[in-house]
Amino acid sequence: MDSAITPQRDQETVVIRPSRDADVDAMLAIYRSHIRRGVENGVDSAGMAEPDDLRQRRKNLYNHRLPHLAATFRGEVIGYAYVVHFRKRPAYRYTAKHSIYVHHEHQGRGVGRLLLQALIDACAAAGFRQMIGYIDADNTASLAIHEKFGFARVGHLPGVAFRYGRWADTVMVQRSLGPGATEPPPAAGGVGR
Ligand SMILES: CC(C)(COP(=O)(O)OP(=O)(O)OC[C@H]1O[C@@H](n2cnc3c(N)ncnc32)[C@H](O)[C@@H]1OP(=O)(O)O)[C@@H](O)C(=O)NCCC(=O)NCCS
Repeated sequence: MDSAITPQRDQETVVIRPSRDADVDAMLAIYRSHIRRGVENGVDSAGMAEPDDLRQRRKNLYNHRLPHLAATFRGEVIGYAYVVHFRKRPAYRYTAKHSIYVHHEHQGRGVGRLLLQALIDACAAAGFRQMIGYIDADNTASLAIHEKFGFARVGHLPGVAFRYGRWADTVMVQRSLGPGATEPPPAAGGVGR
C-alpha cells in the first residue's frame, strides 16, 4: 500500500502506511498503556507482547499479506491497526479480526478514523468479506467509531474481563466487505494463506 497523507484538524499531516520493524517499540508502548487499563499492579502480565513477539507477529502478518498499519505524525508512531484471521481453521479464511490503538495523547483528533478507514480498505482489497472486533462494553469511543464505520453489534459476552475492581462485558461487532456473504468467494479463494 502507498502512504496515504491526510490533513489533520490542525493542518499538519497524519500519514497512514504499512508498519515497519522500526515502529515496534512505539507500537508496544501504545499497546501496553491501553491493555493495562484498570488492571491492578502486580497482576501477572504473562502473555503480554514483548518486542520480539510483536516483531515476529508483524513478520508473520506481512508474509501472509495481512494488513498491519501505522499512523505517524511528525515522524512519530501515534497509532496502529492490524488484522489476524478470525479463526485459524481454513473455513474462516475470509474473516478478519482487527485491533486498533491510538496513543492516548492523540485520541479524539481523527487518527482512529484514518486508521480504521485504511484498514477496512486494505482488508477489502485483500479479499476479506467480514471484519470482526471485540470491544469493552464501556469503551464509548470504540463503540462509537465502529458504529460510524458500519459495524453492527452482533454479540455480547458478559463478565469476561475484570478491571477497575469489577467484572466487565465485551461487545462483538461485525461488518461485511465488498459483496460480503451475498456471493461465493472467487474460485481459488483464501486470503493470505
Ligand atoms: C477507539 C480509538 C481507536 C478511537 O480513535 P480516536 O483517534 O480517538 O478517534 P477519532 O478522533 O478518529 O474519532 C472517530 C470517531 O470515534 C468516536 N469517538 C472518538 N472518541 C470518542 C469519545 N471519547 N466519545 C465518544 N465517541 C468518540 C466519534 O464517533 C468520532 O467521530 P467524530 O469525530 O465524527 O465525532 C481510540 O480512542 C483508542 O485507541 N482507544 C484505546 C484503545 C482501544 O480501545 N482500541 C479499540 C479496541 S477495539
